[in-house]
Amino acid sequence: MKIISSIEELRDQLRGQLRTAFVPTMGNLHEGHLSLMRLARRHGDPVVASIFVNRLQFGPNEDFEKYPRTFQADVEKLEKEGVYVLFAPTEKDLYPEPQEYRVQPPNDLGDILEGEFRPGFFNGVSTVVLKLFSCVQPKVAVFGKKDYQQLMIIRNMAKQFALPTEIIAAETFRADDGLALSSRNGYLSSTERAEAPSLYQVLNQVADQVRSGRTDISEIENQAMQSLSKRQWQADYVAVRKRVDLQAPSEEDLANKEALVVLSAAKLGNTRLIDNLEI
Ligand code: PAJ
Repeated sequence: MKIISSIEELRDQLRGQLRTAFVPTMGNLHEGHLSLMRLARRHGDPVVASIFVNRLQFGPNEDFEKYPRTFQADVEKLEKEGVYVLFAPTEKDLYPEPQEYRVQPPNDLGDILEGEFRPGFFNGVSTVVLKLFSCVQPKVAVFGKKDYQQLMIIRNMAKQFALPTEIIAAETFRADDGLALSSRNGYLSSTERAEAPSLYQVLNQVADQVRSGRTDISEIENQAMQSLSKRQWQADYVAVRKRVDLQAPSEEDLANKEALVVLSAAKLGNTRLIDNLEI
């Protein structure tokens, strides 16, 4: 595997490649990330991964400084997956000057759910992903459903800018007890880790209630928030939304349950976890 940090060298290395499959990450790789590498392999060749902890998508009180950085272990995992190039730019490589041109997602998608609680987050994500796409020029790029809203926003960005990159969705990879793998799980104490799967259980309860035909969505969402707070979580939101645009479903939309998704973000101690489930 070639490890490249400069944009110019990356371009030299990938010149003439027409079927590149790309997986952007922030490192601290786990099986969820590796499942994306395997999906990428099925859709293109060579597979290019990136590791870059993107300052633009962290708020002033978020964990940019303490975000886990485990470069050597990540390299070994990517080697085993047969990744051809790891693009691991420094901040100077990717942002040689302050990144003043930005991608601003539309408010109705970028400022709801995660965007409401993390102002500017999707501006930072979209900007870095567009820039990484410009460096790698992939034919396909793989994103996890774990970050459902991120996936939708990148999909729409690719469509609206007519990017020549197809966006592929990967299923959420979970531990045996249901907890979605995440780099932030490493912040959990052992008691918190034991409690963490209840977020997914609550999502499943919501999904079951919607599937059973209940239409009092706000009531279902509130009950879910309450059952999380009883278990010492601080929930930012539990929301049943339409998969296509993440807007609240109308009565009519509720008839087509396969078109819905339930999303949640909640804090356990100091750790903020997100998860979602397609209904
Ligand atoms: P990061 O959190 O490292 O995630 C990289 C990719 O892995 C994302 O597409 C994410 O959805 C996916 N992923 C994470 N955990 C997963 C799981 N348990 N199952 C399936 N996929 C999972 O998301 C980012 O980085 C950044 O925002 C990035 C897109 C790299 C831009 O900086």
